[in-house]
Amino acid sequence: MNSEQQRPTILIVDDSPEYAMILIETLCDEFATLIATGGERALALAGAEPAPDLILLDVMMPGMSGYEVCARLKDDARTVHIPVIFMSALDAEEDEQRGLDLGAVDYITKPFRPALVKTRISNQLDLKRHRDQLEEMVQERTREVMLTQDAAIYGLGMLAEFRDTETGAHIRRTQSYVGLLARHLKGKPRFAGFFDENTINMLKKSAPLHDIGKVGIVDRILHKPGPLTASEFNEIKQHTQFGRSVVDRIEAAMHDRSASAFLRFAKEVTYTHHERWDGTGYHGLAREQIPVSGRLMALADIYDALTSRRAYKPAFAHEEALRIISEGDGRTRPEHFDPDVLQAFLEINEQFKSISIQLRD
Ligand SMILES: [Fe+2]
Repeated sequence: MNSEQQRPTILIVDDSPEYAMILIETLCDEFATLIATGGERALALAGAEPAPDLILLDVMMPGMSGYEVCARLKDDARTVHIPVIFMSALDAEEDEQRGLDLGAVDYITKPFRPALVKTRISNQLDLKRHRDQLEEMVQERTREVMLTQDAAIYGLGMLAEFRDTETGAHIRRTQSYVGLLARHLKGKPRFAGFFDENTINMLKKSAPLHDIGKVGIVDRILHKPGPLTASEFNEIKQHTQFGRSVVDRIEAAMHDRSASAFLRFAKEVTYTHHERWDGTGYHGLAREQIPVSGRLMALADIYDALTSRRAYKPAFAHEEALRIISEGDGRTRPEHFDPDVLQAFLEINEQFKSISIQLRD
């Protein structure tokens, strides 16, 4: 509503000055009014700020007809929500139907009774107000639910993290790295169509869960400072299996299909974040067998391990981590990564560096 006047603003669109004057006289005690005598002017006024609260639209006008104006209003995100009431001397049923089909909320035939026009306008404004309030409530509730969901996911991820390294920063950093890679790869032909906004969000949301299976690994092995025996390493590998089982059980308990995309990514990322492109990872998956989520997380996880302090090594500087990932050392090799994911990392490595500094342990 136009806050300056504190009264709803009605845009009157009519090529006949007489009718426009009658309408102004009818409405001026309750509403502020704007006048357009043609379609182009009507569209300009409707799209301007502040927008009118309702449009009274004549059907028969020279040039652009009221139907066309209405269609264009409903086609524009700025004006689609403004209620339109058609006014016309045409009173054939099909004309009224056509107007309503185009998205108008009401249809008034000329000549009109002033009191009736005012009542119909007020009714539509009340409806619009209620709709807006409802939409606001839904948005507010959705925001709350999303926040709760994000907090729960973080909490789960952090539980595993606290047992492991006693810091939650690893999951925040790796989540950011995954987001950076996804956004950058969005523009690459090989991934065209894969990374839409929803997918990127789901990837980022599921990322904190990648090591959740570590809660199933005994402290003696999880916290062992020295090198692991073969059987201990086999046990460590189990965290990917445990993680996937946890998400499997969550999925079995949930009946909401909308959660399935998120849970699918959560399952992928828990199970495949230690896979390597050349097939030498935990489960021997190779190349395209590894889901994209796992390929991104693998690089994010390795970069974070390199730039963080571990019981067996100091934290390497960004430049050293960059060198190891792109040239290889005894443990890490460039062949471990999807070449496009690796290339993306090289292109945006400065952004990785910023995050590693911002979210340092
Ligand atoms: Fe892991």
